[in-house]
Amino acid sequence: MAFSPQTHAAAAEIIARYPAGRSRSALLPLLHLVQAEQGCVTTEGVTFCAETLGLTAAEVGAVATFYTMYKRRPVGDYLVSVCTNLSCALLGGDDVYARVAELLGIGHDETTPDGRITLEHAECLAACDYAPVMTVNYEFYDQVDPDGAERIVEGLQAGERPAPSRGGPLCSFAEISRQLAGLPDPRPEGVAGPGVGEPSVAGLLLAEADGWTADDRPAPLVPAAAEQAASAERKGS
Ligand code: FES
Repeated sequence: MAFSPQTHAAAAEIIARYPAGRSRSALLPLLHLVQAEQGCVTTEGVTFCAETLGLTAAEVGAVATFYTMYKRRPVGDYLVSVCTNLSCALLGGDDVYARVAELLGIGHDETTPDGRITLEHAECLAACDYAPVMTVNYEFYDQVDPDGAERIVEGLQAGERPAPSRGGPLCSFAEISRQLAGLPDPRPEGVAGPGVGEPSVAGLLLAEADGWTADDRPAPLVPAAAEQAASAERKGS
């Protein structure tokens, strides 16, 4: 199956953002772009990226298999990722994952028989301050428990798009893949969601409330080591 004229046009638009002779730097967005059309990075997608960017298939394949956001098997309309890394695990992430897996009847990197929902357990979704966390198509659902996660997934099964805790409203995997390729979200409401939440700025708020400044930073925990470093710096200058 050849890629659509829209994908070819989008690829040209993305490549044009890079300096002449540096088109290979567009590989990461192009991998998201081919994933948007085919649901994963297929052999055909690898060939498209290689031919478009003047790379070898081996070079493209090496990148595509390194990053976990590039999928080698088709993803459904919704990619449900449940974090089971340390912060989330300590606060019940494994229970959340187990409940979602049971509800969907699938395991890691599997898709429901109707092809709509793919499940994966993730190794840190970069939202440890909101643990335990799950994402759907990379939109965050913060501080979920098994019951809350079940409601979100049941909503997806019912054809709804449960509102994420932060960011824009939920879209399909194809749509978010185009955004990850660097193409704009065509929905006006796509950038209107709630932004950063209180847990992310708790330290900043505490510092402001107590009137801390950079000069008030705590003394080094290991004074001897700090003195050694300062001494080495003095000798080097
Ligand atoms: S450990 Fe779960 S988001 Fe970082």
